[in-house]
Amino acid sequence: MIETDACWTRLEQTPKGTLAALFAGDDDRVAKLSGTLAVPGGDILFDWSKTHLSDDLVTGFEALTEAAGFDAAREVLLTGGIANPTEGRAAEHTAQRGIGADESVAEADAFHMRMRGLVEAIREGVFGPVKHLIHIGIGGSALGPALAIDALARPTAEWRASVDVHVVSNIDGNALEAAFEACDPETTMIAVASKTFTTIETMTNAASAVQWLEESGVSDPYGKVVALTASPDKAVEWGVDETRVLPFGESVGGRYSLWSSIGFPVALALGWDGFAEFLEGAAVADRHFADTDGFANLPLRAAFADLMYVQLRGCQTRAVFAYDERLALFPNYLQQLEMESNGKSVTADGNPLGRPSAPITWGGVGTDAQHAVFQLLHQGTIEVPVDFIAVKQPGHDLDPEHHAILLTNCFAQGAALMSGKANDDGARAYPGNRPSATILCDAMSPGALGALIAFHEHRTFANAVLLGINPFDQFGVELGKQIANQIAAGGGEGFDPGTEALLTAAGLKD
Ligand code: F6P
Repeated sequence: MIETDACWTRLEQTPKGTLAALFAGDDDRVAKLSGTLAVPGGDILFDWSKTHLSDDLVTGFEALTEAAGFDAAREVLLTGGIANPTEGRAAEHTAQRGIGADESVAEADAFHMRMRGLVEAIREGVFGPVKHLIHIGIGGSALGPALAIDALARPTAEWRASVDVHVVSNIDGNALEAAFEACDPETTMIAVASKTFTTIETMTNAASAVQWLEESGVSDPYGKVVALTASPDKAVEWGVDETRVLPFGESVGGRYSLWSSIGFPVALALGWDGFAEFLEGAAVADRHFADTDGFANLPLRAAFADLMYVQLRGCQTRAVFAYDERLALFPNYLQQLEMESNGKSVTADGNPLGRPSAPITWGGVGTDAQHAVFQLLHQGTIEVPVDFIAVKQPGHDLDPEHHAILLTNCFAQGAALMSGKANDDGARAYPGNRPSATILCDAMSPGALGALIAFHEHRTFANAVLLGINPFDQFGVELGKQIANQIAAGGGEGFDPGTEALLTAAGLKD
């Protein structure tokens, strides 16, 4: 039996207490299971006290951490070693924030300076008046910019956007057409964001955007395009002048690329100081992750709870509810981060995993979700660990009552899930003992968002290391793309009869 298997056996055999019993047995539970990160713009509190982690389980997970070689894996990640063995490369998102191999940090700094130059030139009017930016990308080339702009650059926010940014990802022309409707072509720039600069959705949308500028009478449509990519040669070949190509390193994964030039719309909207604060917030989380051992390491602690729910309690999903409209896109962002990273069936060395990997991440925004899906969380038959994310300072100027109701509801839900309420009428009884964790930010500053995202990157990595999987490849997304390409190229004979019938019904095949 390998060492990690023995740790899992021990964890499985460890008695599991109810939340009520765990609180009753330890007066210090809240303090013990809470921690704070001090980021630019305020603190972030991470309260894991309403999870089923017990002292004995923590001891078991710390043993697993050691057996899985967590310290060495973290060292590899943070020093630019081969953290992604199936593709034989490093995973250098932290180098974008100043933590990594010296040459990678230097390269990231140089790329950032290049991006800063272009951002400042645009903001200073070198390209004429720029009022709109259509940012075209998909997956990791879109979800991060969309989240950051929505969270930070709202009209009444401190960092309100200096340009009106539209993030377009879907190949469905309705998405791009809506952006065209909202923008004046004379004052619009286009950012084409693609690590590979080959993704069919992005390249098709980009070509249509250039065509729109052309048809609208813009004299040099390609002169309005900025490329954000790890394949700068392809961008130049496609038609973007080299001076407007903002490169980033191949070792930055797509879903970890918001910190690189993929963050261009964020830097343009907030200004460079805002983007720099965003990077620094992430660096605070990086330093905490790098320098803190065992249970005190907040992302690692969160991974202990994640693994407890999936591996020891059979949970197949985890839900994340942002009790703040500014973070409405956070669950979407986390879905790619967690499911594309850890939705795997083999270990890093290619052997069958032999246990569940990532749960399904889902969620929404509070209080809306309370009136739609919380019934199942309170009384359904499956256990769903919930994360609540809230922000102390409101992001609007309306009556403070709005925010008080929002926060009160957030904490009430955690209390109701945990405590439940007995009733002789089963339909009206709440079983309780249902887990939640709460993340409370002082303010929705660039620093807080940076730290929040980096915390989740490290949490995802810690989950992967303790499971023995590689979180940095994504071969699972390739087969569908290949088949679509085959069909588009007119090939693709011999699909299953169901697919053949659908292709015929949609008029894609005779
Ligand atoms: O299909 C998945 C994926 O490769 C993601 O990992 C990535 O973020 C997205 O597509 C977009 O890729 P690119 O930035 O190369 O266009």
